[in-house]
Amino acid sequence: MKDGLTSVPEDKVLVLDFGGQYSHLIARRIRECRVYSELISYTVSPREVQTLQPKGLILSGGPTSVYEEDAPLCDPELFKLGIPILGICYGLHAMVHLLGGSVVRAARKEYGKTELFIGDRSDLFQGLENRTVCWMSHGDMAETLPEGFEVIGRTANTPTAAIRRRDRKLYGVQFHPEVAHTPRGLDILKNFVYRVCGCRPTWTMESFIENAVKEIRETVGKDRVLCALSGGVDSSTVAVLAHKALGDQLTCVFVDHGLLRKGEAEQVLEMLEKFKMNIIHVSAAERFLSRLKGVDDPEEKRRLVGEEFIRVFAEVEREKGPFQWLVQGTLYPDVIESAGVKSPAAKIKTHHNVAGLPSWMKFKLLEPLRWLYKDEVREVAGLLGIPREIVRRHPFPGPGLAVRVLGPVTPEKLRICREASFIVEEELKKAGLYDAVWQAFAVVGEDKAVGVLGDERKFGYIVTVKVVESVDAMTAEWKRLPYELLERISSRITNEVDGVTWVTYAISSKPPSTIEPC
Ligand code: XMP
Repeated sequence: MKDGLTSVPEDKVLVLDFGGQYSHLIARRIRECRVYSELISYTVSPREVQTLQPKGLILSGGPTSVYEEDAPLCDPELFKLGIPILGICYGLHAMVHLLGGSVVRAARKEYGKTELFIGDRSDLFQGLENRTVCWMSHGDMAETLPEGFEVIGRTANTPTAAIRRRDRKLYGVQFHPEVAHTPRGLDILKNFVYRVCGCRPTWTMESFIENAVKEIRETVGKDRVLCALSGGVDSSTVAVLAHKALGDQLTCVFVDHGLLRKGEAEQVLEMLEKFKMNIIHVSAAERFLSRLKGVDDPEEKRRLVGEEFIRVFAEVEREKGPFQWLVQGTLYPDVIESAGVKSPAAKIKTHHNVAGLPSWMKFKLLEPLRWLYKDEVREVAGLLGIPREIVRRHPFPGPGLAVRVLGPVTPEKLRICREASFIVEEELKKAGLYDAVWQAFAVVGEDKAVGVLGDERKFGYIVTVKVVESVDAMTAEWKRLPYELLERISSRITNEVDGVTWVTYAISSKPPSTIEPC
């Protein structure tokens, strides 16, 4: 695929990332306004910005102080391009500092909800009351403003909580409009992108699909394309999207490694039947299980599953190939994570080979979802007709249940893990809580405990139930489930899953624990 910029609309806003914890959130919020937005490094040059032709720039927050040595600062020439700019928190400080104003440590750190008194409601704050709640998180503030700037909002502690230089369309807010704790934050961002930048709301998933289909066709021409289906929402979406563009030029491979959730393989294949795609279903459970036999170390399990997967994949290619392209469901956060937010050029990957594949298997890579966040992929999936059941399914690790079975994977522990996880998910669905949590599953290890079944004493496995809430998997909280629900889950597992005597509930959060047990 080319640089992908053809599948994004003309009207876009770039977020210059100064390393703030909310940088991605800013881009996501702008996209919620139906305006395309991307993260870019604060080191971007004015020339690069001009090439990308954004309608506006947002300077993100960041963890440093502008007056510190080595503080990240953007090129001051950016302020002269005539492109509207909104500085948020550190972004406001950077703008003030670079344009000749001063930033100082505030007498008091401000953290949490604060009342904002608005002085002017003609542009950024149009449609708001003259008092509103905003979320603050800062230790510095602008003291003297650069020439031509004026204050348009203040709080009790920060007299420069919102500033602007109208003739140059430069704006700054000390608070965070992108977080939910600023109730009118989205309206402020809408005012910026629509009123100040003049963007049109053209970023819709319908238009994304239309453009992506066109672009895939143009890029691939008459070549043949291979897709590895895992059953998850990303790979299912990319497969259906590529199929819409390419029809029979696309072949999907579904490798059932025997480590999937209960009924998952059948459900995915049945769901995809209606799309009439070429799907090669490889039942390889025995192969994977025999490779995993006796393996205890989690990383070794991951490595073996990955290696075996590639072998199966390579066999399919040898038999059915050649394929010139591989289509993958890489998402925007993965792109940023692996490439970092460098210059726009550095971020653009064109053709390269896929890590782990043997050298003789040379594919050009198609990544049509590389501009999308997860919630956008879910929307695309829904529009393409993928059922809600799959769209809403919790994330699942590539090595599957192999990382939820502690110690060596045996058919018995695998069965227990699969059956018990199914009960956990089913009970959460019945309680209307499935969509409210990030992941919910069961873990089984080597530990055994005594139980009584009827009159008989039994030595059986201990199953640990884990249910977590999270927004991005970077941190996670164990879910405070009602006792009655935990009771139901526990008694169903001991009654229905043969070989289990005890059920425990994991009450550790991330950090220090990780979500998966190994
Ligand atoms: P951890 O366990 O690191 O997991 O807190 C964070 C998120 O990543 C998923 N995960 C994986 N996904 N291969 C994957 O494709 C893996 O090896 C893997 N390990 C963890 C996990 O399910 C959680 O959502």
